[in-house]
Amino acid sequence: MASLLDLTSQGDVATISDDAYLNRSLKLMDPQQLYELWERQQWQSQAIDLERDKEQWAALSDEEKEEHLWGLSSFFVGEERVTTQFSGLVMAYENEQEEAFLTTQQVDEARHMQFFDRYYREVMGIDHELIRDRLAYVRKDVTDAFVELFDKHLVEMGKRLIDDPSDIEAKVDFVTTYHMVIEGTLALTGQHFMLDYYEKEELLPGFAEGFGNIARDEHRHVAYGTWFLQQKCADHAMRERVQRTIAELLPLAAGVLVPKGYEVGDEYEFFGYTSQQQAEFAYSALSRRLKVIGVPLATASAA
Ligand SMILES: [Fe+2]
Ligand SMILES: [Fe+2]
Repeated sequence: MASLLDLTSQGDVATISDDAYLNRSLKLMDPQQLYELWERQQWQSQAIDLERDKEQWAALSDEEKEEHLWGLSSFFVGEERVTTQFSGLVMAYENEQEEAFLTTQQVDEARHMQFFDRYYREVMGIDHELIRDRLAYVRKDVTDAFVELFDKHLVEMGKRLIDDPSDIEAKVDFVTTYHMVIEGTLALTGQHFMLDYYEKEELLPGFAEGFGNIARDEHRHVAYGTWFLQQKCADHAMRERVQRTIAELLPLAAGVLVPKGYEVGDEYEFFGYTSQQQAEFAYSALSRRLKVIGVPLATASAA
C-alpha cells in the first residue's frame, strides 16, 4: 500500500490529489518519521550557485528590481520572525521524538533566513555587515498586516508558551497560528506562485533552487502541525479553539501580500497570477488540512 509520503509532498495532506483520503482517520506521519525525513534532506544555504543570478539581476531595470525586492521581503523578514519566535514551542515538547523534530524545524527556519540574507547581500547588493541591519532595511517593504501578524500575534502566542510550556491551549493556539496560518496558508501559497514564475521565466535559478528547498522544508513543518492538531482536536473544545484562531487570523493573513496601493478584496497581480487564483489556492490547501484535523470547513470558510 502506498505510504502517505508516496502520496504527498513531505506528508503534507494539502498536496494529496485524491480527496477521498481527507478525513480524521487518515494516519499522518508522526514526529519521529518527520525527524528521520529531515535527516535525509539536508541542504546548504551557503553552497547554492548564485553566479547566474548576479548576471540576471544586474540586467534588470530599477523598476523590476523593486518588484522582486518587494515580493521577497516578507519572506526574508518572515523567516527571521519564525526562527526567533519558535523557541516557546521547542520548550513545549511532550516527548523526546517531538523534541527532536521541533529542534530540526528551528534549525530549518534559521537556514531559510540565512539563505535570504546571503541572497540580499551577494545578489542584490544590500551589503550591511549584520543580518539585523539588512532586515531593518528590508522592513520598509512589509505591510501593516505583516507587522500585526508577525510582530504582535506570533510574538504574543510565543510568549504564552515560554511563560508556561505545559499550557496545551497555548500550544494549540501557537501551532494554529504558525503552522496552519503563517506557513500553510501564507508562505506555501506565495512560494507556489513565485517558484512557478521564476521557473517558467527561467529567472534567478539560484534563488529558485534555494526557495524550492525552503518550500520542501515548509511542507514537512506543516505536516507536523497537522499531525499535532489532529491529535489535540479529538477534543471538541480544541476544535473550537482552532476554528476561532483561524477565523481571527485569516483576514489578517490575506493582507500580508497585498501590494502598495491595493486593499484586501481588490484584484491585483502577484508574480503573474491574479489575487483570486492566489486566494483559491490558499483556501483549498487550508481546507484539506482542516478536513484531516477534523475542524468543520463552514466556520473556517466564513472567515
Ligand atoms: Fe521557513
Ligand atoms: Fe517553516
